[in-house]
Amino acid sequence: MPIRIIRQPLSTVDASWAAVGVFEKEPTPPSDLRGTGVESLATRLLAEKEVKGTVGETTAIHDPAGFKAPGILLFGLGPRARLDARAAFSAGVAFSKKLAGKPRGGVAVSLAGLLEADRDDLVSALVEGLAVGMRGPGLFKAEADRHAFEFDLVAPEGTADEVVAELERLSARGEVVGVSVNMARMLVNTPPSYKPPGVIAEVIRKAAAARGVAVEVWDEARIRAERFGGLLGVAAGSAEPPAFVTLEYRGAGDDSPFLAIVGKGVTFDSGGLSLKPSASMEDMKSDMTGAAVAAAAITAAARLKLPVNVRGYLAFTENMTGGRAMKLGDVLTMRNGKTVEVLNTDAEGRLILADALSYAAEAAPDRIVDLATLTGACMVALGTRIAGLFANDDDFADSLAVAADAAGERVWRLPLDDDFKDSLKSGVADLKNVGGRWGGASIAAKFLEQFVADVPWVHLDVAGPSWFDKENSTHDAGGSGCFVRTLVAYLEQSAGA
Ligand code: BES
Ligand code: MN
Ligand code: ZN
Repeated sequence: MPIRIIRQPLSTVDASWAAVGVFEKEPTPPSDLRGTGVESLATRLLAEKEVKGTVGETTAIHDPAGFKAPGILLFGLGPRARLDARAAFSAGVAFSKKLAGKPRGGVAVSLAGLLEADRDDLVSALVEGLAVGMRGPGLFKAEADRHAFEFDLVAPEGTADEVVAELERLSARGEVVGVSVNMARMLVNTPPSYKPPGVIAEVIRKAAAARGVAVEVWDEARIRAERFGGLLGVAAGSAEPPAFVTLEYRGAGDDSPFLAIVGKGVTFDSGGLSLKPSASMEDMKSDMTGAAVAAAAITAAARLKLPVNVRGYLAFTENMTGGRAMKLGDVLTMRNGKTVEVLNTDAEGRLILADALSYAAEAAPDRIVDLATLTGACMVALGTRIAGLFANDDDFADSLAVAADAAGERVWRLPLDDDFKDSLKSGVADLKNVGGRWGGASIAAKFLEQFVADVPWVHLDVAGPSWFDKENSTHDAGGSGCFVRTLVAYLEQSAGA
């Protein structure tokens, strides 16, 4: 159902809750409350700092005088001067999470704060947050702990028709993007034994095909015929065969450029014979984040009918320790003919990406972006909330960073200097799959670079932002669906939309 934009005073809207944004460090109550029976209460709450307006804060006012709705939920937007997509998204998640804790009737969400700050463009981010906050990681709970609710967006009475039309477009976009983020989160949150390569490939095939995306799924025999030695090497230790999925959405003409999105899809990373300690394995069902995000972003592009061409290349496998597992010292021959000596089976992501990147590069895309939960080293460098960005092309790096910024997600460029390749020298093969102790994220990226030929390429190491260990008011625990929003923003920008 499309989200409605209604123009009337918030106090007169018939809803189970009215949600109102509050800016930090502003003593005057938001315009929706001015001149109503709760103005003096709101003034006092703000003056006494009972309500601070920080992003993530929510405050319920029950039975508000003069309001048709039986409750007002104030939600913090942070300082007005720092209102951006990240703040709007997180604010949306926070009040949505709060309201979705119980079944509700319709909710009326005021847009006054965003419109008065002249940030109509952030309506999409707010709606994305609303969609994301309605879904939690509790996929297997006997009693649902999250209840999606319907909502209308409320604009001030005099809002012009053109503005309303734009708000409708932005809220529809936000809904598609939010649902796509949830698709990625759901896939990541699915337990590893419920999503072996063949199964997750089918789930993605169905979801994408239903949206007009052309999908092809390769089984093990085809993967062998295509000489994907890295993917086969990693899959050898598993009872589950690998799967390789290609997606294609054509929204622009046949001669138009296309973006290739490559995703790491390790449905469970035990480390293989270079076994991880138990605690490091607990969240390794998330090691297919890159592939899930790629599939979700391409599906979103199709639903939004973006005038772009994009292809996805998703390599799915488990990394296990079965009797046929690759051994240390084994040599694999990758799709592009390069040989790799495996000296740590836990550096498996680069092995499967080598094949996927080589294959993507053969199709001569204009640009390749890959997303991978690739290294713990990247988390050591940047923490858990910022992705490492590596590129062989400055323009592409810059435009992806601009898109991330617009989407409210964080990347930080890390080096890809040539000497990172030195530590990947092998005595027996063209490369080995691990380097020295320092600069592990750059070494991994340098390894990947050997497989992209000369196509402009960006690698996003999303090991940190892919996952939340703990929940708080602005996010759930588990898969984050990170960078779906950035990829959609990038595709829009590259189309000049
Ligand atoms: N999937 C992991 C990286 C990872 C670690 C993602 C923590 C999310 C959270 C990857 O396959 C891996 O094991 N990388 C190794 C590489 C090393 C053996 C060179 C790592 O980072 O320890
Ligand atoms: Mn690993
Ligand atoms: Zn891994």
